[in-house]
Order: sequence, then structure tokens, then C-alpha cells
Amino acid sequence: MPLALITGASKGFGRALAHALAADGWDLVVDARHPTDLNQAFPDRTHRVATIPGDVTDPLHRALLTNAVGDRPLDLLVNNASHLGPSPQPELANYPLDELRRVYETNLVAPLALTQLLLPALHRSNRATIVNVTSDASVEPYAGWGGYGSSKAALDHLTAILAAEQLHVRRDLRVYAFDPGDMRTDMHQAAFPGEDISDRPEPDSVVPALLRLIDRRPPSGRVRAADLLATTGATA
Ligand SMILES: NC(=O)c1ccc[n+]([C@@H]2O[C@H](COP(=O)([O-])OP(=O)(O)OC[C@H]3O[C@@H](n4cnc5c(N)ncnc54)[C@H](OP(=O)(O)O)[C@@H]3O)[C@@H](O)[C@H]2O)c1
Repeated sequence: MPLALITGASKGFGRALAHALAADGWDLVVDARHPTDLNQAFPDRTHRVATIPGDVTDPLHRALLTNAVGDRPLDLLVNNASHLGPSPQPELANYPLDELRRVYETNLVAPLALTQLLLPALHRSNRATIVNVTSDASVEPYAGWGGYGSSKAALDHLTAILAAEQLHVRRDLRVYAFDPGDMRTDMHQAAFPGEDISDRPEPDSVVPALLRLIDRRPPSGRVRAADLLATTGATA
């Protein structure tokens, strides 16, 4: 069975992806900070899912995730857990710096730290993929999105450099920054407080794009779900 580790899998895109992979027979290691939500997201124990509650910014929690992978090859690492920052999002002129540090710790430092710990397990697979979930806010300078957007821009660049470096280590490792587009989730509602977001697509509708990406394994890079869905149709 292939093995995936997905952070932030108690709701939203992470949960939708985890459920799809479990249905395809993948073994999973998943996390989120709130244990009740995490366990409720995976009530069906017929699939092999290790639920490890914790915060990706906590080094001890990252060590527990790594221990859960153990000596097995890791075929997929999805750095999905993310922090928006304050809601509504403040403009940079007034952005609280402690909040900015938390956004960067969650969206940038934690994905790299987890990748560093898990590279040996990823190298044990001959079809390994790292997916760092990014956002269009990484490339579009939306007013008010300076904290979150700059963290995702840095994540994009980190992803590209990691891919370039890994080419010399494991040519068959793929490293993607994956932009899912708008999704009807708690984070999206926090980004648009008080707005009706019912016209945004459900996260399940984006999952086929990621499934196709890890199946087809194009060269590493930044990819948009909308482009993948446009070229493949809406099925995986
Ligand atoms: N929704 C959109 O429109 C949109 C657009 C572009 C990009 N994205 C990206 O897509 C990804 C998924 O977002 P989403 O909208 O699905 O979010 P979501 O519904 O709010 O879910 C976020 C998940 O991450 C977990 N999480 C948050 N902080 C964590 C931490 N520090 N440690 C461990 N787990 C943590 C949450 O659970 P706990 O709260 O229990 O920790 C939850 O399971 C993110 O990377 C986001 O930046 C989303």
C-alpha cells in the first residue's frame, strides 16, 4: 500500500484529499490541532489511518509524525495545514508582527521542517511526491493579504529551490507548489468574514486535480488546480 502524510486533515481540503486517498487504498498519517475534530473526520477504522493530533509548528509533534511513518517508504507528503492570520486581515502598515511570525512558522517553516525530517522516508520511495499547498495570494498582491500572501510566495520559492536541489539527489522525486483555487472552507470564510461564500466550490471538487498530478507526475513546479482540471476534465 502507498503511504501519504497529510497535515491539516480534519476538515477542508486536507480531509477531502485524505478521504479520497483512503478510498483508493492508501495508508495515511494525518494531523490537525484539535483531536476531537481529527478523530471525527476519520470514524471508519477499516482504512489504515494514523491520526496524530498536534500543531505543525511544534518540533515534538513533527517528530511524532515522523515516527508514525517509521521505516516505511513515504510516497506522498502534503503540507496542507495553514494559518491565515487575523480575520479580518490587517494591512501591512498595521500588521501585528507576532501574528506575522505565526503565519510564517505555520506556512513556511513547518513545511520545510517536516520535509527535512521526512526526506529519508521519501527517498525510500521511487515515486515520491511533495506537495506544498499554496494560494493565488502568493502571486497576486491583493490588498490586505500581505501576511498570508507573502508566506505563500516564500513557500512557492522554497518549493522551487527544493525541487532544483533534489534533482541532484533523487531525480524521481517530484516537488510541487499546488494552488487549489477558491474553496468553500472555514479558512476561506475567515478570509471573507461576514460574506456569503456559498458560490465557492467544495474542496472535494479540487481533489481530482491533485490525484491526477500525483498520478501523471509532470516535472516539478508550481501548478494550479484549475489548469489541471481544464486539461483532464473533472475526474481523476
Ligand atoms: N480555502 C481556500 O479558498 C484556499 C485557497 C487557496 C489556498 N488554500 C490553501 O489550502 C489549504 C487548505 O485550506 P482549507 O481552506 O482547506 O483550510 P481549513 O478548512 O481551515 O482546514 C485547515 C486544516 O488545517 C488544520 N490546521 C490549521 N493549523 C494547523 C497547525 N498549525 N497544525 C496542524 N494542523 C493545522 C486545521 O485543523 P485544526 O484547526 O484543528 O488545527 C484543519 O484541519 C491551505 O494550505 C490553504 O492555505 C485554501
